[in-house]
Amino acid sequence: MSQSTTIYPGEVFADTQVFDTGIRQLIPHYDLMLDTLIACVPKNAHRLLDLGCGTGELSLKLLKHCPEAKVVAVDYSPRMIEYAIAKLQQAQLNDRVTFIQADFGAWGNGEIKEEIGTNFDASVSSLAIHHLTDEMKQKLLTCISKNLVEGGCFWNADPILQESPQLQDTYLKLREQWTINQGKTIDDVRSNIGNSEPQGYSGQDRLASLETHLSMLSSAGFKTVANPWRFFGLAIFGGWV
Ligand SMILES: C[S@@+](CC[C@H](N)C(=O)[O-])C[C@H]1O[C@@H](n2cnc3c(N)ncnc32)[C@H](O)[C@@H]1O
Repeated sequence: MSQSTTIYPGEVFADTQVFDTGIRQLIPHYDLMLDTLIACVPKNAHRLLDLGCGTGELSLKLLKHCPEAKVVAVDYSPRMIEYAIAKLQQAQLNDRVTFIQADFGAWGNGEIKEEIGTNFDASVSSLAIHHLTDEMKQKLLTCISKNLVEGGCFWNADPILQESPQLQDTYLKLREQWTINQGKTIDDVRSNIGNSEPQGYSGQDRLASLETHLSMLSSAGFKTVANPWRFFGLAIFGGWV
């Protein structure tokens, strides 16, 4: 049974405390996906931006991968930010992270500027940007590319629209099996999922195909675009400016 707490799109679970466990039961190869994304970020990076940081899992991995780096971590959810701050404090890495509670759609639309900063060596995002419309994704990508240093990169790990219903069907079956392999049923995991209402620029899943994502990246000013990883409806895509 779904819980009644209303959450923001992307928070997924009604109780933030269960996110880190629940997301690993729900999303096949979650850690592999994040680790693969991190491997695309140069180890000597100094300034990093994490969009839709959630409970801070990707930021934590980034900080360990890039020992010199400071991370600006953005999320619009006060619950996620609060949880991420506590996690980074516990890992004694909090002095290398600045958390900003903001809507990345608003940043992409030019409504907030100074706060987030510029001249990033790399920007990353996981499981977040697919909540924007394609129009807003394009604006956000353009904003990201403008705020990277020359040669800087952006990597996004996000759900994608698959090429055929057959592939989607196979993916859903594999997802179900993945959850069972973690010792849970889909119903167990679903019982923790919260009800979300549109918030700011984010709504329910608005998936685009991999082809569309790569084309949007090129239009946004990324000179080289790439897709280093994919598992059916999940992919990492991005590039260099
Ligand atoms: C599924 S979580 C993923 C968190 C983290 N990146 C990870 O992979 O574990 C998606 C996050 O994106 C945030 N989010 C979604 N839309 C957003 C927006 N427009 N602005 C800022 N944060 C957003 C949600 O609050 C949530 O914390």
